[in-house]
Amino acid sequence: MPSFAVVNQKGGVGKTTACCNLAAGLARQGRRVLLVDLDPQAHLSLSLFPAVATDAGVPTLADLVHRRATLDQVLQRGENLDLIPAGPALGTLEGETTRQAWWDLVREHVAPLTDGYDSIFFDCPPTLGFLAVNGMVAARNILVPLQPEYLALQSLSSLAKTISVLRRDIEPHLSLSAIFLNGFDKRRRLHREIQRLVRAHFPEQLMEATVRKTTALAEAPSFGQDIFRYAPKSNGAWDFAALCREFERRFNHAEGFPPGT
Ligand SMILES: Nc1ncnc2c1ncn2[C@@H]1O[C@H](COP(=O)(O)OP(=O)(O)OP(=O)(O)O)[C@@H](O)[C@H]1O
Ligand SMILES: [Mg+2]
Repeated sequence: MPSFAVVNQKGGVGKTTACCNLAAGLARQGRRVLLVDLDPQAHLSLSLFPAVATDAGVPTLADLVHRRATLDQVLQRGENLDLIPAGPALGTLEGETTRQAWWDLVREHVAPLTDGYDSIFFDCPPTLGFLAVNGMVAARNILVPLQPEYLALQSLSSLAKTISVLRRDIEPHLSLSAIFLNGFDKRRRLHREIQRLVRAHFPEQLMEATVRKTTALAEAPSFGQDIFRYAPKSNGAWDFAALCREFERRFNHAEGFPPGT
């Protein structure tokens, strides 16, 4: 299964929720998954490994890049699911790097790990800057959580344009590989209309599975748990399980790979 950068320049659309619960669902199916937290807010690290993010002494991705810590020291290990945590120091990394190929910094540091995992998810911050571009280049495949609102379509089209430019200028294998609707309510006409429009423009990328608004999805991070542990019978667990199955179906073999846009 390929790796994904989970990207949307709009904040609060479900990037971290998707990383956490897709990774947890795939790990439960026996996949070895690595999460890389690329957001200085460290919400993903806090959601799954709360002890990590509250302990200032724990080395993070920035320590790895500055060679203050080894991969082994930075890696937080779980059951089939490991994490490279983030911290506020990620926020200043851009200003501290002098390398020309700045977009390749994260890939270089994560590359030695790739053979040990079936898939890597990079949780990107809500801007298309240094960290998100590094995540996209490292993963090559982009997964976009989208809220079913008209203005989200505008963001999606601008993201698709940015990806085309990055593909042309930086990484020819970059691909907008998957989009899923988060907070979807099939009873709402507007939501169905947005789904139709996204499908019309991105027929190969739009996942059939959608994720409903579920209180338990918002609660689970405060217990340091994924949805399958926190509320296994909730709509959120049901929906993320369906999304994981679709991921397996679509991406588990090379020929099922949708072309980039
Ligand atoms: N389907 C859902 N149902 C209920 N709550 C959700 C759902 N998806 C996300 N949330 C909640 O919405 C908030 C924003 O989600 P999340 O942090 O995943 O977004 P994000 O895109 O990663 O945000 P940011 O851009 O700040 O990184 C969180 O409190 C999360 O728990
Ligand atoms: Mg986030």
